[in-house]
Amino acid sequence: MRLFAAIELNPEMKAALAAMQDQMRAQRVAGNYTPVENLHVTLAFIGEYPDPEDIPLPEFTPFELKLSGYGSFGDLWWAGLEKSPALDACARRLRRQLSEAGIPFDKKRFSPHITLARRATGRPALQIPEAAMTVDHISLMRSERGRHGMIYTEMRRRDASTED
Ligand code: 2AM
Repeated sequence: MRLFAAIELNPEMKAALAAMQDQMRAQRVAGNYTPVENLHVTLAFIGEYPDPEDIPLPEFTPFELKLSGYGSFGDLWWAGLEKSPALDACARRLRRQLSEAGIPFDKKRFSPHITLARRATGRPALQIPEAAMTVDHISLMRSERGRHGMIYTEMRRRDASTED
């Protein structure tokens, strides 16, 4: 199955991202928009792998994410996040554990983003709504191609540990 590790977004973040997508649509940007329920931050893309039970998810303590900025990788448009050492550390720890477990994953440098649309036409100018959330779990997701687009299903999660 096709697997990736990700941060699921809370309703406030999803609403803000949906508002950015609406701005893009209002500016006549055509493309393959990410359905709101699929919006997420990828921590590591594993790809085809047989057993989700093998995949380590690192320990972490809760941390904040804040929407900040937007940009494009070619015709893929994304929303950005305020720089977060805790987020970087979480992705780094996950990737180290994957390496140690011998699980192959995409080694491209971690650049935190939330994909708003792929194969987008034009260059929208967006206003970024204020939105933030606390990350209290990370998820191992399965990705499948459905009849009407990608279907992401959480296979496992790890809750944040609380600091004592
Ligand atoms: P994205 O993070 O830019 O949106 C599931 O495919 C998720 O893993 C998507 O969010 C996707 O892109 C991300 N991803 C990262 N590297 C990938 C790769 N090499 N192939 C497919 N998806 C990848």
